[in-house]
Amino acid sequence: ENIKLNIEKTLEFISKDKLAAYAPKVKACMETLEKGTGLGNDFLGWLHLPSSITQEHLADLKATAQVLRENCDVVIVAGIGGSYLGARAVIEAMSNSFLWLQEKKAGQPTIIFAGHNIGEDYLYELTSFLKDKKFGVINISKSGTTTETALAFRLLKKQCEEQRGKEMARKVIVAVTDAKKGAARVTADKEGYKSFIIPDNVGGRFSVLTPVGLLPIAVAGIDIDQLVAGACKMEEVCANPNMEENPAALYAATRNELYQNGKKIEILVNFQPKLHYFMEWWKQLYGESEGKDHKGIYPSSVDFSTDLHSMGQWIQEGERTIFETVVSVETPNHELHVPSDEENLDGLNFLAGKRVDEVNKMAELGTQLAHVDGGVPNMRVSVPVLNEYYLGQLIYFFEKACGISGYLLEINPFNQPGVEAYKKNMFALLNKPGYEEASKAIRERLKK
Ligand code: PA5
Repeated sequence: ENIKLNIEKTLEFISKDKLAAYAPKVKACMETLEKGTGLGNDFLGWLHLPSSITQEHLADLKATAQVLRENCDVVIVAGIGGSYLGARAVIEAMSNSFLWLQEKKAGQPTIIFAGHNIGEDYLYELTSFLKDKKFGVINISKSGTTTETALAFRLLKKQCEEQRGKEMARKVIVAVTDAKKGAARVTADKEGYKSFIIPDNVGGRFSVLTPVGLLPIAVAGIDIDQLVAGACKMEEVCANPNMEENPAALYAATRNELYQNGKKIEILVNFQPKLHYFMEWWKQLYGESEGKDHKGIYPSSVDFSTDLHSMGQWIQEGERTIFETVVSVETPNHELHVPSDEENLDGLNFLAGKRVDEVNKMAELGTQLAHVDGGVPNMRVSVPVLNEYYLGQLIYFFEKACGISGYLLEINPFNQPGVEAYKKNMFALLNKPGYEEASKAIRERLKK
């Protein structure tokens, strides 16, 4: 069994014939990806990444994860963007929602994320929390020079060395970075940290199945073999040149046809709060890949039914420029029934005996019907169960669809020139060496 895409509820908004006409275009985009002849072809390492991961590599990751698990009560995963969201997406999806409040178990470190903001209070509170803790750090940065991550790592490295001694710090600090370039590589080599390489040809947002994601996920005690196995399966399924049988191709075509029909915003929807960060990962994947040349669907997300009580109003009756893609988990991992109550003061006895998930599923179905009636096309990606295998499938499915979709849109889905603009200004304002001219210019501009 695999994840499944159902586009039926988009077909009253777009023409079936027009959608069918995408088949040759989608096939051509897939060939361009395979041959490596399209835009951004230096960054296609993700395409056959799942099937190229070796047992030795997985064993190396698991052994390193074990060192951290044995020697740390807390592990800080430092990274931002593509060096952050994939790991967090999988860890949150696979962890008990209340793990952080539970009594600590030996060999099961708490995972905390840092290096994805410059909040002074966040970093102050984090370093204060770590004061009496046996902690380790995974420093993740492909460029090795990203300010947010480097700043957090500077603080954490110093604290770790002071608290745990240089020798132990060397054991519990791991770097995931470029093979040769960047400050994180220089530091790792000089300090003798265990390090993993981020392949040159895998961009940040496509890197969750490299050590960027796999190492933190393994440290959290999550099965990376199954994650990779699921991705491998989807690599096979999404290689099918027949659009109707290839969920990535069909998703790419459908969302592009919706876009051509004025649906400029895609809302990724979940009915499982654990998928919140999966949606964040997806937003980066699609936003950074497609938002170019003044084009691209704006990717947004909601957690239902929570947000039905807030954004639900906008979705039902606001501007009709949206469509929804629901990631629907068919069977929850646990069973909980609604108890019956003799007094029935809350009037909920009509639900007595039902599984909580049945209520959730009726909320999902009711929402789908209401939103389609309200003019919102709706797609559905069904996931049999929330586990590592199907998360691996989801990851690869969305990656492959993103590559195809970007080529359909005729942009380069694998670069991100737009994210440099703020950095240039920030460095100029902070007088970073090398930015002298820009510093002068920006100060002049601010005087006006
Ligand atoms: O997808 C991307 O390229 C970005 O989101 C990067 O992952 C992010 O900026 C972090 O970069 P780095 O890994 O070089 O620190």
